[in-house]
Amino acid sequence: MSSESGAAIEFVGVSKSFGDGAPAIDHLDLSIESGELVTFVGPSGCGKTTTLRLINRLIEPSGGTISVGGRDVTSVPVEELRRDIGYVIQQVGLFPHRTIAQNIATVPKLLGWSKPEITERVEELVDLVGLDRSLLTRHPAALSGGQQQRVGVARALAARPAVLLMDEPYSAVDPVVRAHLQDELLALHGRVETTIVLVTHDIDEAVRLGDRVAVFANGGRLAQYATPDELMAAPADEFVESFLGADRQLRRLALRRLGELPLEAATPELAAAVAAGTSIELDGDLSGRNAVDAMLAAGVTCVAVRNEVGIAGSLTLADLSDLLKA
Ligand SMILES: Nc1ncnc2c1ncn2[C@@H]1O[C@H](COP(=O)(O)OP(=O)(O)OP(=O)(O)O)[C@@H](O)[C@H]1O
Ligand SMILES: [Mg+2]
Repeated sequence: MSSESGAAIEFVGVSKSFGDGAPAIDHLDLSIESGELVTFVGPSGCGKTTTLRLINRLIEPSGGTISVGGRDVTSVPVEELRRDIGYVIQQVGLFPHRTIAQNIATVPKLLGWSKPEITERVEELVDLVGLDRSLLTRHPAALSGGQQQRVGVARALAARPAVLLMDEPYSAVDPVVRAHLQDELLALHGRVETTIVLVTHDIDEAVRLGDRVAVFANGGRLAQYATPDELMAAPADEFVESFLGADRQLRRLALRRLGELPLEAATPELAAAVAAGTSIELDGDLSGRNAVDAMLAAGVTCVAVRNEVGIAGSLTLADLSDLLKA
């Protein structure tokens, strides 16, 4: 496994039963590409955590094979495997009596990195996860929940793992902090090559973060595995459809930036309509969903979309509706 790039993860016919009960995972086939961010979502008890923990062998499968970076995980010594797989959980699990710097340095220290190498890496990581370096000498109890969560991510990434596993990392923080942490994860994903698998029970989080989303149903059945747009455009069955909720089309619009949509050319009439208040002007960074909300609130059916240079074009409520039929 190379630590320079993310590793592909492959489940082939994987099953897991605990005791005599019904299987938690039943013949799961799933492949995650190198460098992808995949989210696992589904109702409580459907096997998301179990599937995740099979990857770093916190749990052993009852049948089938799991490979990471092309190697069967059971053929790799567990310590070696886990060195290349960062793991972040909801409770974070920072060491309370160690400073933030010492917490982040845990794995590099274990691997015998030199002091200057460790110091450099720790500083690089706090910058990467958006923490202030002045926090490095504090202890975990002196940090907010959101800050602790960032430290957990920094610690998991310290030795440049090929894979990062995250189990409901944001469910204990308030919605505002959660939105920040989600943005940071997306930015981080753009900068590091690591393959990321994130478990959540929140469908909004799953579609916002995932390059692809795996929707699990009870009994560890993979009900659908698709990009967020494919998922919301064409749910595979009734279970997925009900899980996505009645507003799945609006969620789909939330994933599209106005600036990326096909716009009708700007005309003098459009500028006049904005001036007269019969149309409104919106920033191209806003989503299609924002545009629907703004149009409904202002009682208009057309928006002028603005970019860095000026009005780029217009978009109507009917255009957005047509987009969903495509
Ligand atoms: N150690 C265990 N012993 C026995 N049964 C277990 C064990 N771990 C999980 N299970 C069972 O396996 C099934 C899947 O559990 P899992 O923790 O993977 O669900 P989950 O999708 O992560 O749920 P949640 O959203 O509530 O975290 C459940 O029925 C659970 O009770
Ligand atoms: Mg779980």
